Amino acid sequence: MSNTSGKKKRIGILTSGGDCPGLNAVIRGVVKCGQQLGYETIGFHRGYEGLVDPVQFITLDDRTTSGILVRGGTILGSTNHGRFVAIKDESTRVELPRDLLNSVSRTVEQLNLEAIVCVGGDGSLAVAQQFHEHGIPVVGVPKTIDNDLSCTVFSFGFDSAVTCATDALDRLHTTAASHERIMVLEVMGRHTGWIALHCGIAGGADAILLPEIPWSFEKVSEKILTRREQGKLFTTVVVAEGAALPDGQFVARERRAEDRQIRLGGVGNVVSAELQSRLKIETRCVVLGHLQRGGTPTAFDRFLATQFGVHAVRLVAAGQFGQMICYQAPAISDVSIADAIGQLNKVDRFCSAIQAARGLGVSFGDDVLSEEAFGLPHAKIPPSINVPVVMPELVNAPYLPTSLVF
Ligand code: F6P
Repeated sequence: MSNTSGKKKRIGILTSGGDCPGLNAVIRGVVKCGQQLGYETIGFHRGYEGLVDPVQFITLDDRTTSGILVRGGTILGSTNHGRFVAIKDESTRVELPRDLLNSVSRTVEQLNLEAIVCVGGDGSLAVAQQFHEHGIPVVGVPKTIDNDLSCTVFSFGFDSAVTCATDALDRLHTTAASHERIMVLEVMGRHTGWIALHCGIAGGADAILLPEIPWSFEKVSEKILTRREQGKLFTTVVVAEGAALPDGQFVARERRAEDRQIRLGGVGNVVSAELQSRLKIETRCVVLGHLQRGGTPTAFDRFLATQFGVHAVRLVAAGQFGQMICYQAPAISDVSIADAIGQLNKVDRFCSAIQAARGLGVSFGDDVLSEEAFGLPHAKIPPSINVPVVMPELVNAPYLPTSLVF
């Protein structure tokens, strides 16, 4: 099928930012649905980088996408740094150079693209938003294992990450019990503790430390000692990589490069060392890292990612650009990219999952009122689980002294 110029109708797609399970399922969804509606799909290599200088793409069809539904990573490749940087310090807008935007427009024109489907997290969607403002037709698809994008209840990749983290916690549980140890599991979650919260509940953690809830070593120790009094000689603790220490400092692996975010990681080791030194109980730490980002997507993530891909093509066909696909259970819908970026979907400390955990006696390392613990009617509980909160000023956070940088 062709458009008014007699050329074949085409959609472009790219995957940008950190990878996650389900990206290939989105690609497949776009290709298959595109075929139904008479589109040829082309995929750009290495995220936005493949759009210009040099333009790098492949034609996506039944042959090139065969078998990718279950495959982790992205067949197109991705990068979370390079020339396309539209936010700095987590939330400050950076204007993309006009020349760069003009070059992208030229690529769109020359390849006869009706739109580019941009699959990415908050940083990548901020680029898509600037494309939209420049008149480049885009549709955004949210991707983040951290589940920190607002306007969508879940993004694909999150469930696979939680499944991986829960499996790790299950394994740590048995060895913790055998050796009467404290086991600390550090999971991803740069600004938000969704992975820690979900895997902590699913895997029966005793303490969960999140970026959203300030905590203290005293309270975590209290929980461990109470367990021991009850005859439970082991404890499991889950900590999100972005959970600040009680003094407000973040633990990072390396400082920020110009075009990259600071590389978090190591808070689990700090927590582990401090608990061992305070309580004189053998403690071990596992930093799960990129295992959470790799491997086969869960059924739920394939289900979600596939629908995101199909809905993206519907929007292209309808000429509705500048929109981001979202999951507002049970429906797949869309919102403007502008509405979805710039604020994070943070864990609300009054949400039902937190209350459920508190109801089980899980410690968040904080002081908690009994009303808050069980969500009693007179407790002040905001109505929604996913209350978007303005991004934290991560950039102003002091760095740890070198000795604490892992
Ligand atoms: O944003 C997703 C995420 O997995 C974060 O949780 C983590 O801090 C970051 O990506 C790691 O990215 P990189 O690929 O640069 O190691």
